[in-house]
Amino acid sequence: MSFLSEDLKNRIRAYLPRYPNKQAVTLPALHMVQDELRHVPREAVREIADILDLAPAEVYDTMTFYGFFREDHNKLGKTRLWVCRSLACNLRGADDLLAHFSDKLGVPPGGTTADGKITLEFAECIGACEGAPCVLVNDEHELNITNEKAEQLIAKLRS
Ligand code: FES
Repeated sequence: MSFLSEDLKNRIRAYLPRYPNKQAVTLPALHMVQDELRHVPREAVREIADILDLAPAEVYDTMTFYGFFREDHNKLGKTRLWVCRSLACNLRGADDLLAHFSDKLGVPPGGTTADGKITLEFAECIGACEGAPCVLVNDEHELNITNEKAEQLIAKLRS
């Protein structure tokens, strides 16, 4: 039985003509799997390896070389909430903001809420310094975040 959907496997295969060799598709494939499943299960590693004619260990080596792929025990939530902590945001209270998010969500940075809805993370400059302190909600910027706005954002993401 196949673990990855045919659609996802076809999307991985569609990358093959764009790269010089199959191995080069390893990272895009891992990202696609993580985007869809919120982590990269071992079964998915084996199936990516099959598609790319690699050993599963080669795919797993690539996956674990980078810090951004999650495994079964630490799946991403539906929403990734990134709190910027670089200079402009830091000067405008990013450390306190991150602590506030952490307190309200009940998870440390890197953690995922028990309902699986939100993963709290910190980021370096996310390119919106004019709106410091700011966060990324998946791919969307939210600017000038106060504690009150943080709580409204959490309520929206949990609804
Ligand atoms: S320092 Fe936070 S967006 Fe640039």
